[in-house]
Formats: sequence, C-alpha cells, structure tokens
Amino acid sequence: MEFKLSEDHLAIQKLAKDFAAKQIAPKAAELDEKAEFPSENVKKMAELGFMGMMIPTDLGGVGLDTLAYVLVLEEICAACASTGVTMSVNNSLFLGPIFKFGNDAQKKKYIPEFAQGKKLGAYALSEPGSGSDAAALQTTATLRGNKYILNGTKNFITNGPHADAMIIFTTLDKTKKHKGIAAFIVEKGFKGFSVGKVEKKLGIRASSTSSVILDSCEVPAENRLGEEGEGFKIAMSTLDSGRIGIATQALGIGRAAFEFSTKYATQREAFGQTISQFQAIQAKISDMAVQLDAARLLVWRAAWMKDRGLPIIKEAAMAKLFASEAATFVTKEAVQVLGGYGYIREYPVERFFRDAKITEIYEGTSEIQRLVIAREVLKELTK
Ligand code: CAA
Repeated sequence: MEFKLSEDHLAIQKLAKDFAAKQIAPKAAELDEKAEFPSENVKKMAELGFMGMMIPTDLGGVGLDTLAYVLVLEEICAACASTGVTMSVNNSLFLGPIFKFGNDAQKKKYIPEFAQGKKLGAYALSEPGSGSDAAALQTTATLRGNKYILNGTKNFITNGPHADAMIIFTTLDKTKKHKGIAAFIVEKGFKGFSVGKVEKKLGIRASSTSSVILDSCEVPAENRLGEEGEGFKIAMSTLDSGRIGIATQALGIGRAAFEFSTKYATQREAFGQTISQFQAIQAKISDMAVQLDAARLLVWRAAWMKDRGLPIIKEAAMAKLFASEAATFVTKEAVQVLGGYGYIREYPVERFFRDAKITEIYEGTSEIQRLVIAREVLKELTK
C-alpha cells in the first residue's frame, strides 16, 4: 500500500492550491455576501482544464484521473465552496454520465464545449415531491414521432439558472416505477424549457440553485441518454461518482475552517497565554485533525477505486457520509474556537459553517448514505 502521492499528483495539487489562494479565495466572501454566481472563477478554472478533468483529451478534457480531480476540488472548495460545487456538478453529474452512457454522436456533440468550460452543465433528478425517494419522480416523457415531450418540474437544480444543458430524468410509465425512468440531455434553448424560482440559501450562496420547468418541452429522440428504462441506473451510478465530489467539497470546507481556527488559536491570547495552550482548545484541534484525516483517507480510497474500475457504491457513500458529518463538526468547532469572532462576517469561519451543512443533504442525505452502506454491507455478508 502506497500513501504517498505521485509527483504528477503533487504538481496538480500545488497548481490548484496556488490558483485557489490567489484567484478564488480573495473574492469568496464578497460572492457569498452578494449571492453572485462565480462566472469569472468558472472561466479561470476552464483555462486550467478544471471543468473537464476526467474527460480524455480527444474530447476536449485534460484526461486526468479521479484522484487528481479530488486533489484539485479540495483546494477549490477550501477557497470557495460555491465555486467548488459548480465545478463538481459539471465534471461529475453532467459530463460523467454522457461520457459513460452516451453514444458517440452525443459525446461528440456535448462533451467538448462543456469539458472546456465554454458551456456549463447540470443534473436534474429531484422534484418538489421526490428527493430521497428518487424513483418516485413524476416528470413525464412521451414519445411523439421523433421527439419526446417532457412535462414536469425539477427542483433544487445546482447550476440551474446558468446551465446551457442538463441531464433530466423522467418517467415513461409510472406503473413501472424505477424501470420506467429515462434520461435526456436537454438544452436550455429547447422549446418548453424554462428556469423557475431561484432559491435563496443558508450556505453556498454564490452557487446558483433553481427549479426547472418543462412545459411540453420538445427533446429530439437522439438526446435520450441510454435506453428507455435505464434512466434510474444512470442516475444512481452518476450519483456514486458525484458523492466523491461532495465528500471532497466537505473536506475542503472543513480543512479551511480547521486551518483558520488553529492559526487563530496560536495568536489569540487569554489569561496571559495563547488559547492554543489550553487543553480545552487542544482537544478541539486534535478532534478536528482526526476527523479531517479520516475523511481524506475515505475520499482518496473511493477515488483510487473508481480509477481502477472497482465498484464504489459503498465506498463513495462512506466517504460522503463521513466527510460531510466531519465538515459540520469541524466548522462548528472552528466557530467555537473563534468565539464571538467566529459568529461575525468579518471572519470566514461563519461562511464555512453555513457552507458545510448542505454536504449532509445534497447528492443523497446522510440518512440515505447510511441506507446505501447498510444495504451493501448486508449484501456482502450474504454473498
Ligand atoms: N448503481 C447502479 N444501479 C443501482 C444503484 C447504483 N448505485 N443503486 C441502485 N441501483 C439499481 C438496483 O440494482 C435496482 O436494479 P434492479 O431493478 O435491476 O434490481 C434499481 O436500481 C432500484 O434500486 P433500489 O431498489 O435500491 O431503489 P430504491 O428505490 O430502494 O432507492 C435509493 C434507492 C438509494 C434510496 C435512491 O433512491 C437514492 O440514492 N436516493 C437519493 C437520491 C439522491 O441522492 N438525490 C440527490 C439529488 S441530485 C443533487 O443533489 C444534485 C445537485 O444538484 C448537487
């Protein structure tokens, strides 16, 4: 077993760290305050190839592996979690399924511009009435001639207002439950597509989230991704990879909070010494450090396994569950270390605290991750 990163991985990590510190971090608080989408950051990340990291070069990506992707994403998220999720959704939830399940024509048509960051993608599974129970979705697709007609509303779509295209999951036949689901690549310009309500959020305020309305939306039949009835498996398998990205986002947020609060503890004085000299603070520092290290190991293992084509359902869910709960723990402790200064906007720790919470919710709540893990563990036991 090798715990050391290769020279190439260290180089991309350093590149991302320097870039994030210089270009992303300085604007993060302002973007959060204004709830402003980080368009400039997306452009700059695109120049470095970060919007299509795992796409081969002949399709416009930079052809790196998942480990390289999580190393970069951790740095971006440590600087600005809103920018990080924008990158993650384009890479994992939009490009991922087209690359894995798309036919040659779909790959050629959709991957290059999105991988180069000239266009932005999204993923639309959730609906007002179905979140955790994804198979209960109600958006319909009906084949009419050479087009499918889509009707319904999708909810909480990350990148929704800014996306040029998205993967939309629909049902062809509700009686078939998950076996009736089909996925489509839908462009924002298709007739009957519109962006609905833009959400105001607790955290990741600079990331854009909206509903999407499909009012007899006309989608060419050639834009169906995979076979009819294959949509649920495409959705689930895409989320397996996506969950590694959200686990990484959690890790980045948690690390930023840890670094800031630990440094603060070495500078702030109380009762004649720096607060880092008190055991109460040292216990927090060690608990935060252990949580983050364990989270990173789970994230890197899941990425390593994905790069080797191994099944990652359980490992991706474990990484997401642990890292997201670590992030909420660490950011809460970081606020506590700073005391009153942790609670005000002048310091970034309250932003980290607000940003961390969503990682326990989107791309599958902690409750769903526990369900997925338990199912896999029980399956292994009965093998
Ligand atoms: N990969 C491939 N296939 C899978 C799979 C996976 N990971 N998980 C399940 N399947 C297959 C099963 O094998 C089964 O296939 P068969 O019919 O051939 O046997 C089929 O799918 C149905 O599986 P289940 O019986 O397990 O389905 P279920 O209805 O009990 O639900 C669930 C499973 C795990 C609860 C699932 O609904 C789930 O993950 N829910 C959470 C949804 C979620 O994460 N939503 C996030 C929204 S996206 C988002 O947040 C994006 C954003 O903008 C950031």
